[in-house]
Amino acid sequence: MATTLITGGTVVSATGRGAADILVDGERIVALLEPGTTALGANLAETVDTVVDATGKYVIPGGIDAHTHMSMPFGGTTASDDFESGTRAAAWGGTTTIIDFAVQKFGERVQDSLDTWHKMASGQCAVDYSFHQIIGDVNDESLAALRRLPDEGITSFKLFMAYPGVFYSDDAQILRAMQIGANTGLLTMMHAENGPAIDVLVEQLLAEGKTDPYYHGIARAWQLEEEATHRAIMLADLTGAPLYVVHVSAKQAVAQLAAARDRGRNVFGETCPQYLYLSLEDNLGAPGFEGAKWVCSTPLRSRREEHQDQVWQALRTNDLQMVSTDHCPFCMKGQKDMGIGDFSKIPNGIGTVEHRMDLMYQGVVEGRITLERWVEITSTTPARMFGLYGRKGVLAPGADADIVVYDPDGHTSIGLGKTHHMNMDHSAWEGYEIDGRVDTVLSRGKVVVAEGEYRGRKGDGQFVRRDPCQYLI
Ligand code: URP
Ligand code: ZN
Ligand code: ZN
Repeated sequence: MATTLITGGTVVSATGRGAADILVDGERIVALLEPGTTALGANLAETVDTVVDATGKYVIPGGIDAHTHMSMPFGGTTASDDFESGTRAAAWGGTTTIIDFAVQKFGERVQDSLDTWHKMASGQCAVDYSFHQIIGDVNDESLAALRRLPDEGITSFKLFMAYPGVFYSDDAQILRAMQIGANTGLLTMMHAENGPAIDVLVEQLLAEGKTDPYYHGIARAWQLEEEATHRAIMLADLTGAPLYVVHVSAKQAVAQLAAARDRGRNVFGETCPQYLYLSLEDNLGAPGFEGAKWVCSTPLRSRREEHQDQVWQALRTNDLQMVSTDHCPFCMKGQKDMGIGDFSKIPNGIGTVEHRMDLMYQGVVEGRITLERWVEITSTTPARMFGLYGRKGVLAPGADADIVVYDPDGHTSIGLGKTHHMNMDHSAWEGYEIDGRVDTVLSRGKVVVAEGEYRGRKGDGQFVRRDPCQYLI
């Protein structure tokens, strides 16, 4: 087994930082050592196969993006990153595990959809991966299949209160699925927007000739996110199901989550970089059809209403627990442009899997979160939330050697032709400048990114079985 020593860096965890060298043997971390430790009188660096010099840099656990949609069939097309291109881009950006979604559509069997996603991902991935299960058709068969998911190493499923006729579940279906969540410990992930009400507003806006991407944000009003979030919390409360609300964007929805947590409920929330940096006015409201690049759901919120600042604050105070990307990229040409003249036909989704670690690091630079909180919301909490902690999300003996060396003196210019390896014809983050840089990435002990080169191979990444959410007693 090859050995690697990461030397001279500052190891940062969710709870602190300090100088340490990290010894890796094969795929695992074997020791965190006093810098310069010797072995039988020899300098350890002289005895290992590879030395990674992390002097002046941070050494952190590899990022875990718990919300991606590679090759997702959605909005009449398919997300433009497949597991190969999407996980390679993830590696470039310091993310060493993704949790994607197997999609059960109306009329399909859950087990068939899971088999399909395994086939799509197997042998293709650059970094490790797991799945949540989307239940787009709650019925007796899918509810029975839900109970069996933990045997498959899958401990979370997603329901949608939005997208009637596509993935939508009504309250009766949600209640039944949550009852199983309560009994099995499966975490219910919820897309919390009131879909039927949104559809009425969409119809009315289009009838008034309001067809631009901007109106996507108007139709998906914050009241409809707050209402659905509240309803999901109440149904979880009634059933005792643990609840995780995905892609939270409205400050009012954050307040609902905070209130439930203050009542001691097992309610959690994730946000995404787009809700921290981008807005209805600046992005969805860009001239012409440009705003289509940022059509996603929940939508970007108004800067005037200061949702972004509130969401940052919630991340700092743990009213929101973590940051995923909801990576669901579509090209402008041939995909987003299906919605020219009708915003409701623009496929919903933004591509960010490559930039999450950088964009959140910029929050450290700007004094919004601490260095430790950066590690916590991008790696340690996702690991605990989704039953990976110990193996992932931490730099400790026995853990997978998923390690990122991050250079605080480096610089990253985001955009096409710069740092962009996602399969898209545009970047939703064009022009963003980050005061830091991913330097070296190890995935299960193998150096996959170093010196500005990708050194991994498709198939390096393996499926990872997960335990139940590690926040539940
Ligand atoms: O716009 C989004 N979020 N696209 C992906 C599907 C989903 O709802 O997460
Ligand atoms: Zn969603
Ligand atoms: Zn999503």
